Amino acid sequence: MRTLALLSLLSASSAFAAVDHEAAFKADIAPILEKSCGNCHDPKKAKNGKVKAGFDISSLASIVKGGKEAGAGITWGDAAKSSLYVSSELGLNKPTEDAAMPPKKSQEKNPPLTKEQVAKLKAFIEAK
Ligand code: HEC
Repeated sequence: MRTLALLSLLSASSAFAAVDHEAAFKADIAPILEKSCGNCHDPKKAKNGKVKAGFDISSLASIVKGGKEAGAGITWGDAAKSSLYVSSELGLNKPTEDAAMPPKKSQEKNPPLTKEQVAKLKAFIEAK
């Protein structure tokens, strides 16, 4: 039984998903976001459990959905239409912009993503 279940799992994933977003998210992306964004966007750490602007980084599904105003957190295949990417890229390159994340005044405690991490985020969103 176990072998059968495993086999069907394997064939399902190879048939339907060229990229395993969930696995890549857990391994490569979640730790970055936890460090730079978690204090305000993870319900476990945010004040009173309320994430800022409804943007919740605690699961890939909630990130994809996005927050209250900035549209989808992730539009697969298009980093420029993904508020997760746009806000993080601004946080590194144009921190004084309103949409830059982490907000400039908080960057001492919440480090902006590095150039490498921003590139990793883009690759994650646009991987096929
Ligand atoms: C110090 C707290 C803080 C940190 C850290 C922080 N944010 Fe935010 N975030 C906010 C606040 C406050 C808002 C809403 C007001 C604003 O846009 O300034 C917001 C809004 C957002 C929005 C817009 C959601 C919507 O649709 O309305 C996104 C996307 C976002 N943040 C992503 C991030 C990402 C990605 C990181 C980490 C790289 C991050 N934030 C780090 C406080 C924070």
